[in-house]
Amino acid sequence: MKVLVVGVGGREHAITWKISKSPRVTKLYCAPGNAGIAEIAECVDIPVTKHEELADFALSEGIGLTVIGPDDPLAEGIVDVFESKGLRVFGPRKNAAIIESSKVFSKNLMKKYNIPTPFYEVFDSPDKALDYLRAGKYPIVVKADGLALGKGAIICMDYAEAENAVKEIMIDRIFGESGSKIVVEEFITGREVSVLAFCDGTHILPMTSAQDHKRAKDNDMGLNTGGMGTFSPSPFYTGDIDDYCKKYIYQPVMDAMKAEGRDFVGVLFTGLMLTEDGPKVLEFNARFGDPETQVVLPRMKNDLVDVMEACIDGRLDEINLEFEDNAAVCVILASEGYPERYEKGFEIQGLDYFRDKEDYFIFHAATRKDNGKVLTNGGRVLGVTALGSTLKEARAKAYEGTGKIYFKNKYMRTDIGRAIEQN
Ligand code: GLY
Repeated sequence: MKVLVVGVGGREHAITWKISKSPRVTKLYCAPGNAGIAEIAECVDIPVTKHEELADFALSEGIGLTVIGPDDPLAEGIVDVFESKGLRVFGPRKNAAIIESSKVFSKNLMKKYNIPTPFYEVFDSPDKALDYLRAGKYPIVVKADGLALGKGAIICMDYAEAENAVKEIMIDRIFGESGSKIVVEEFITGREVSVLAFCDGTHILPMTSAQDHKRAKDNDMGLNTGGMGTFSPSPFYTGDIDDYCKKYIYQPVMDAMKAEGRDFVGVLFTGLMLTEDGPKVLEFNARFGDPETQVVLPRMKNDLVDVMEACIDGRLDEINLEFEDNAAVCVILASEGYPERYEKGFEIQGLDYFRDKEDYFIFHAATRKDNGKVLTNGGRVLGVTALGSTLKEARAKAYEGTGKIYFKNKYMRTDIGRAIEQN
């Protein structure tokens, strides 16, 4: 079977790598891909925004399965475009991807179906939001309704910060139309965990857990980023917590989406906070997480193509999802200055070291090839994932691996997974 992966980042590199391991795949494409993906798939120069063009390419090449990586095309309805041309595609339709593309939708859904989530109010007017925030209990969270590159949730320590967040989101529209409404949410504390789950519209099959580190700097300081590193599994996500989430969160949200006529097919990402009062949902995303995917897929035993096809065909109940009894840690190497201003176009050296290493995965996020050299091409450049028999071992190996790669202005957090060692 010919397979096409749509996307450009580390998540798509991990997905493409995992699909490349399937004996069922005869030819693998990625649009548009990056320098790392180009080593395992044929990269096609079509941007993720060109849905019709991508679907026409899939038709003309006889692609048997297309996998959509990023949130934007899903929110805009790329799956609907592919399906309208009779193509098999993995990902939620537009009417289901709304669970990520509208925070108002997803919070209202959770309220309606009693899925545990922090208390919230919705506002479509800055004045009403500010009246509410003047009397608010701080810290408090202000969230843009729509997609905002993972930066749309702002934790405000006092009214002045909340006022600034409302101004930026609703008046200055730093996230565009995503800021026409906001959610103001109770601030809750605990341990954050990400759980990705395969869904076929009726059944939901959670993968192993992971934890991201979203802030740019050590000790969870600095600005929010797309994610600076991950580990899997989370030792804090116990079997009892998993049982609770299956009963009160995962299956209820599948049933809720079905009841609303929005059957969810694809990967549902649940961002959880493990609080003293039990797990609560911070967010749902309609796709694989990044960089969570870079620690989850290397531990998965199943053929990813088999699982994705079972989702599309509504027979996920036939799949027994299995993960290795090991651990993975991913450290993101970024360009100094990310997520604000940074330079790019620098040569990356040291990649050859990893070629014959089975317990390392270098998933490229923003790289390009020029005259045989691999160059940095964005803020998050690549992820160094290491496997180990324990999280501690995987963490030590991941950091050892980061020392083998060099590029100008290389930046990383030094505390990814430190919580594992304090546990
Ligand atoms: N790692 C967070 C996300 O993928 O949204």
